[in-house]
Amino acid sequence: MNPQASSPSPATTRPEPNRRFSVAPMMDWTDRHYRYFARLISRHALLYTEMVTTGAVLHGDRERFLGYHSAEQPVALQLGGSSPQELAQCAALAEAAGYAEVNLNVGCPSDRVQNNMIGACLMAHPELVGDCVKAMQDACSTPITVKHRIGINGRDSYQQLCDFVGTVHAAGCTSFTVHARIAILEGLSPKENREIPPLRYEVVQQLKRDFPQLEIILNGGLTSLDVMQAQLDHVDGVMVGREAYHNPWLLAAVDQAFFNDDHPQPTRLEVLAQMRPYIEQHLAAGGQMHHITRHMLGLFQGLPGARHFRRELSTTIHRTEQPLALFDQLFEQMQARLERA
Ligand SMILES: Cc1cc2nc3c(=O)[nH]c(=O)nc-3n(C[C@H](O)[C@H](O)[C@H](O)COP(=O)(O)O)c2cc1C
Repeated sequence: MNPQASSPSPATTRPEPNRRFSVAPMMDWTDRHYRYFARLISRHALLYTEMVTTGAVLHGDRERFLGYHSAEQPVALQLGGSSPQELAQCAALAEAAGYAEVNLNVGCPSDRVQNNMIGACLMAHPELVGDCVKAMQDACSTPITVKHRIGINGRDSYQQLCDFVGTVHAAGCTSFTVHARIAILEGLSPKENREIPPLRYEVVQQLKRDFPQLEIILNGGLTSLDVMQAQLDHVDGVMVGREAYHNPWLLAAVDQAFFNDDHPQPTRLEVLAQMRPYIEQHLAAGGQMHHITRHMLGLFQGLPGARHFRRELSTTIHRTEQPLALFDQLFEQMQARLERA
């Protein structure tokens, strides 16, 4: 298989990104610094931004909300909103910014977004989601996708899920990323909503069987490559969230396992070394090192010195006036520990 393989979508003129393996959108976690770091580990994983609301894009600091480093590509922008007109404007801006995909968030359960008709509550309004998708597709040639749950409380039958997917598909969407648990919109925090409702992969697999023409990506609770591979017998792709963040070295196996690309893999130390010039640039622009290194704490997970690395970058870093010196010292310490191991 050609790792760059792409197929034209009927609704778009831009090539579809390969979604066989993606890293989930995660607020406060998958910012541009995490994505730059993740891209050094996997060349092919599709990376999603944090959710950005239409209000932030249209009325906020554009560079902050849409800016990214070209090395991060392929990157998909996730939008939160429910006004077709505003989403269309944002999709056009996303296209101009060069994003590989625009994804609509229909899975976030937080109260704050519900009050603004954003996220999982939209599963109760399939026609509106369809209108949003159509308006976005009409405004740009970038592929438009939807990320949703298998249901929400009070609306969690398989038939209702099929109605949702069928309606949004009729509006033009051909790629759905499905978090395989329902969202409970009252009484659970967003964190609890990622843990308490049971995972039901069989529902997502059934969805693929009933809509074989659609691309169905499975998300939720995936941590091991073996389980991901097994799911790929039933669905078109897997999206991984927390594990890809806490254990970023998982991404080192992804290019070979899912994209059939067995290029020589950099070592953890090489990745660390490659982050240095990026950090230097960020410092020179007035940023702080921990903005970047907070995403790298799990790099050595499972290896000697992992705890030391994590501790230095999460505590000592805040006490030093010479962050790059700390970084260099830590590099040497990790190198020595790995050589001894
Ligand atoms: C810290 C955090 C922030 C998240 N933010 C978003 C978000 O902005 N948009 C979204 O669609 N999902 C968000 N999610 C949900 C993830 O995309 C994913 O659906 C969920 O974590 C399940 O996948 P996992 O079990 O592989 O982590 C977030 C999850 C976490 C842990």
